[in-house]
Amino acid sequence: MATSEAVGAPPAVNATIEAKKPATQLIDPYNVAGQVDDSGNIKAIDYDQHSKDFAVPLLTQQHFDRFEAVTGKPVHRLMRRKLVFSHRDFDKILDFYEKHGSFMLYTGRGPSSGSMHLGHTVPFLFTKELQELFDVPLVIMMTDDEKYLFTRNKNDGVQKKGSAVEDFLHYSHDNIKDIIALGFDPAKTFIYTDYEYVGGHFYWNTSEFESLVTHNQASGAFGWNGSTNVGLVAYGAKQCVAAFPSSYPELYGYPDYRPPEFNPEAKRRFGPLASIPTLIPCAIDQEPYFRILRDRCERMTDPHPKTSLILSKFLTALQGPGGKMSASDPNSAIFMSDKPKQIKDKINKHAFSGGRESLEEHRKHGGNPDVDVAYTYLSYFLDSDEELEDLATKYRSGEMLTGEMKARCISELQAFVGDFQKKREGVTDEIMRNFTRPRKLVFGGNPNLGGKASDGVPGLFKTAEANGEANGEASAESKEREDGRGTKSERKAAKLAEKKAEKEKEKLALRGKGEDGEAAS
Ligand code: TYM
Repeated sequence: MATSEAVGAPPAVNATIEAKKPATQLIDPYNVAGQVDDSGNIKAIDYDQHSKDFAVPLLTQQHFDRFEAVTGKPVHRLMRRKLVFSHRDFDKILDFYEKHGSFMLYTGRGPSSGSMHLGHTVPFLFTKELQELFDVPLVIMMTDDEKYLFTRNKNDGVQKKGSAVEDFLHYSHDNIKDIIALGFDPAKTFIYTDYEYVGGHFYWNTSEFESLVTHNQASGAFGWNGSTNVGLVAYGAKQCVAAFPSSYPELYGYPDYRPPEFNPEAKRRFGPLASIPTLIPCAIDQEPYFRILRDRCERMTDPHPKTSLILSKFLTALQGPGGKMSASDPNSAIFMSDKPKQIKDKINKHAFSGGRESLEEHRKHGGNPDVDVAYTYLSYFLDSDEELEDLATKYRSGEMLTGEMKARCISELQAFVGDFQKKREGVTDEIMRNFTRPRKLVFGGNPNLGGKASDGVPGLFKTAEANGEANGEASAESKEREDGRGTKSERKAAKLAEKKAEKEKEKLALRGKGEDGEAAS
């Protein structure tokens, strides 16, 4: 029987371990659990091992130096602290940004409940800072369809109370408001739920991508089997093509081909959009999707550059480093809706301590901040490197006790969650709709290249000067695109195409009638 007391894994992790008893650690979008050793104890997630197993390179000092050279800003604290620790082609994104001025950021959330937990905020806060730093467009995907399909699959096809399509759509809206409260800029951020948005070019890309993934490949990446519902098997393609800028023409000022802007010529628009690279910040559980994605970017009819990733570790469960905070176990997680007293009680009662058994022992030998959950949380949320270092030193020396570390963590998290809740109260439906409406995004990109990156895709990768916009005036074409209906010539072409289609329709109708105009049998 596997015991998890050693690190006190939460029940959600225990359930996975009971079911799978992984001889090696298990990390995919649906399971996160450390290795179970011979005595049945769960070990901490080994991130270096993950990097080796899946050939995901670690971030190095060279990346930090490049980052600072390209942005002119110090490297982000989560990167410095190795909490954002691995990547795929991050250097290529920096090269592209330096040369061409922009890229697209993409991240997401699977709305499994009405409130996000503290762990979910980590990639969003990091993404927000990247967006501010690079001044680039961001898309955030809310996978209400994934969570619906997954929950129904878990319940053997039975639709239980609170897990109908509309429930997940509702969670999406609540979670979108949570995400907005973290401070995103509506001018350059598009947030959407799959149920509300997927169609048009997005679905076009999805179909093509689905044709490139076999059942065996999807099962291998996510652990699906013959009993998995087909919706879930197919879902992954959507999370993958969400990384293609060509899935969102409106964000770049092009009309989508779907009604009411139907435009049969729209296919040509994939060209320029397909040249924009994307960077995905997320934790490593989502990496299997993007392994599948990267292998197929260049196989699309309009090949896209291989998507880049920047990956974070998991904010651990309160019970310790063998699992991640899980929304399905309230005692493993601090929720963004928790009241100050709940935060205090959860940390005091459940946060695994790196302290010694007794006060005497602790004073004599000191504690271990590396496994101490209160300290770990502080390492994500405390801004000051000096204070963090000071806390670790005092804890190691025995000068600081577990209770004191927990008290510092409680006050920091209460302030963070309290501030969040105040902002969240102000997020109305109308504000939410400002983010979810497909529209042209406005962003400047690399300031060294003129800061005009959002002015239509043809000008996206040129400097302002090369674009003939050195005087700060947007090009006539880009102005015409402002309203999201395309340029005059594009609209004219669309009208002609519409007329042609009408004529074709009339011809077909005539062919179906007899000489006297009666329908032929
Ligand atoms: P979801 O809702 O499971 O997680 C949302 C984001 O939070 C990260 N994450 C964590 N990060 C730190 N500590 C934790 N304890 C923790 N738990 C989760 C996830 O890695 C993710 O970045 N299918 C996805 C939704 C999605 C998505 C994406 C995520 C669609 N497209 C692109 C990232 C990037 C999901 O269910 O995420």
